Amino acid sequence: MVGTPSKQQLSELIQRLYDTHRSLDNGKLATYIPELGKVDPQKFGISITTVDGETLTAGDAESRFTIQSISKPFVFGLALETHGLAQVRSRVGVEPTGEPFHSMIRLDEQSKTPSNPLVNTGAIAMTDLIKGSGPQAGRALLDQCLGKYAGRRLEMDASVYESEKATGHRNRAIAHLMLHFGMVGPEIEETVDLYFRQCSFEVSAEDLSVMAATLANKGINPKSLENAIDEKYVKCLLTLMLTCGLYTFAGEWAFNVGIPAKSGVSGGILAVVPGKMGIGVYSPLVDSHGNSVRGIAVFKDLATELKLHIFECDQ
Ligand code: DON
Repeated sequence: MVGTPSKQQLSELIQRLYDTHRSLDNGKLATYIPELGKVDPQKFGISITTVDGETLTAGDAESRFTIQSISKPFVFGLALETHGLAQVRSRVGVEPTGEPFHSMIRLDEQSKTPSNPLVNTGAIAMTDLIKGSGPQAGRALLDQCLGKYAGRRLEMDASVYESEKATGHRNRAIAHLMLHFGMVGPEIEETVDLYFRQCSFEVSAEDLSVMAATLANKGINPKSLENAIDEKYVKCLLTLMLTCGLYTFAGEWAFNVGIPAKSGVSGGILAVVPGKMGIGVYSPLVDSHGNSVRGIAVFKDLATELKLHIFECDQ
């Protein structure tokens, strides 16, 4: 597509990509959190919100699912706002791991500090930071923060939360290892509880596009005009989303799609086109990296057709 596409062209494009990719079914539902295995595998929604606040959708863009790891960049942002860059950087690095999201092999006597805030080690360290004076305060902060990005109060899916709380022992192990290294406080159960809650907020593809458009719009929600994050921190989130947002697929994503993004095991992908738009896609069948199969296909096509890659010469 040459030049800036009209809303009509964007709308036709996402409808075409929905029609093209809806037959892809070579992924699997994530079942390690048992409740995630119960969702309708055929759900598929695409949504774009522009920085002037218009939303265009195709398919099941209003279907709700749990945000999972897509919460991580937003909680990183919240930690930056509440504690400042220096304190946050003393608790977390900015290096991609090349490892799955729940890996702890880079957390050893030598490194001690979790690699980045978008893998579970770093994300749990950030949750511990925002917990501040206690679990109630942490929950209120989270509610408020995610609500500003989405432009509405997000509800938690209690059954997914309970399901992860009952089975999330690996995350408890991560938190204990980090306590050993002095990276989190001793209230492990409170910290992982808040982490399971942050992963269980219900969103739709449409919500994801508004949250992404807020980052594309220097931290201001383009619909409510509310400020969700200080502009000076937006580039911190976007840099890590570009380098670390898709785990073991992060390099392929940066090479082929080339915009900051974050995926979650429930099948959502959120991506930011700075100064232009936010994009949300939902389809719960995920590949071996934990990324939505249809989501990746949609983004590859969108990047090519709209020349979205940040290093595209011909934008
Ligand atoms: O830590 C977990 O297992 C989940 N609640 C979040 C995982 C997730 O979405 C990883 N991303 N692909």
